Amino acid sequence: MYKILVIDDEENIRSVLSGILEDEGYEVETASDGLEGLEKARSGDFSLVFLDVRLPGMGGLEVLEEIKKTKKDLGVIIISGHGSIDMAVKSLKIGAFDFLEKPLSLEKVVTLVRNALAIEDLRKENRELKEAVSGGDKMIGSCPGMEKVRKVILQVASSDASVMILGENGTGKELAAREIHNSSPRKKGPFIEINCASIPDSLLESELFGHEKGAFTGAVSGRKGKFELADGGTLFLDEIADMSLSAQAKVLRAVQEMRFERVGSEKTVSVNVRIVAATNKDIIREVKEGRFREDLFFRLNVIPVYLPPLRERENDINELVNYFFKKFDIQSRNKVRKFSESAMEIIRKHRWSGNIRELKNYIQRISVMTEEEVISGETAAYYLEDIGRDFDSSGRKPEFNEEFSNISFSKAKELFEKKFLIKKLEENSYNISKTAQDIGMYPGNLHNKIKKLGINLK
Ligand SMILES: Nc1ncnc2c1ncn2[C@@H]1O[C@H](COP(=O)(O)OP(=O)(O)OP(=O)(O)O)[C@@H](O)[C@H]1O
Ligand SMILES: [Mg+2]
Repeated sequence: MYKILVIDDEENIRSVLSGILEDEGYEVETASDGLEGLEKARSGDFSLVFLDVRLPGMGGLEVLEEIKKTKKDLGVIIISGHGSIDMAVKSLKIGAFDFLEKPLSLEKVVTLVRNALAIEDLRKENRELKEAVSGGDKMIGSCPGMEKVRKVILQVASSDASVMILGENGTGKELAAREIHNSSPRKKGPFIEINCASIPDSLLESELFGHEKGAFTGAVSGRKGKFELADGGTLFLDEIADMSLSAQAKVLRAVQEMRFERVGSEKTVSVNVRIVAATNKDIIREVKEGRFREDLFFRLNVIPVYLPPLRERENDINELVNYFFKKFDIQSRNKVRKFSESAMEIIRKHRWSGNIRELKNYIQRISVMTEEEVISGETAAYYLEDIGRDFDSSGRKPEFNEEFSNISFSKAKELFEKKFLIKKLEENSYNISKTAQDIGMYPGNLHNKIKKLGINLK
């Protein structure tokens, strides 16, 4: 039911308008001066506002301006008298939907309200579609583990304390990092990300701290590093456990003092940055075994956040499936379909790994590949088998023919790449730089491949 607010100092107009609108089935509230009206408009969930231009105290145009500051999309219809047409015209420039002249005609009021509400609905739908299509995911899930994550994020958001996000591959670490930034007072500032695993050690320092022109071969101009770019915002140090010990020492100083020098410069740069770090490694073990500095660990681990793997979040699967399906269907089809109960059941029962990306890719495949209005159990099972085939890590070695039968060239290539990389990663104890060197690939490219193929780093 739509709620409409009427702001007018004349008792007569308030009651006539309320009468007309209530007869039409709308819920109406009234306010008799600008301030009261503004307060109601700001706090209530109105779909439309009638606003008199001539109000005692705070005038109508001023109220309109204030409304538009916080509720840009709220439709406002101006009521004007004979003497105030020029003000009504001005109001359109400020963003009023339209204006009505006194004495009010019942018919005009009714049509105008219908039009305004129809447009408001369209706008809302548009906004939702835009949100669904653009930008990252919302953090979905209400299992106890996720509730805890949410709670911690809300608690830490307002402080500047460093946060360490832990969790397996694809459990939403980056999403959580962005959520921390967006819930913090720094949200208007930059969110800068650096993937410590994908940058060779020799370049990491300049990536982090920047360099002066001529600092090394190829440095043709000076450049800001990530710490400087993140000034006033949040720096997300992703895959922190993959940083070399010497890089860790430099990061420690920068994190502790919020000061550093660009490569090739003596001048100290000071910044104000909130640090959020993440890793999918067992960081405590990395510390124990001497691969990660204990002092840096303590400095970064002020507030730990642990993201539970998908296999421990069975009760979130429904919600995740619906969310991803809606998103992909809107993106590629401009409509929203559903999963049947039997399909849901099959998906819930599947033994998911920890990786949410795997579930997301699976849903995307179904959204793109099937035309069913309601996704059947068979379809759900069919595409799950696909995952089983690609992601089999049971050590079973199917015959070439069996393994590669009925799949496309690109699938076969993907399958091979995945097996090859897993083998090479194992041989190199999952050290990305070493593996990359071993197989003649840039660490950054290797890293992207690992992500794309959904390989779990142990
Ligand atoms: N709770 C969630 N709700 C909705 N989408 C999620 C959730 N968690 C993760 N995702 C989505 O799953 C994908 C993987 O998440 P993300 O990149 O944040 O994980 P990660 O832990 O940083 O992964 P990696 O270890 O590969 O770096 C992203 O597309 C993300 O938007
Ligand atoms: Mg990540």
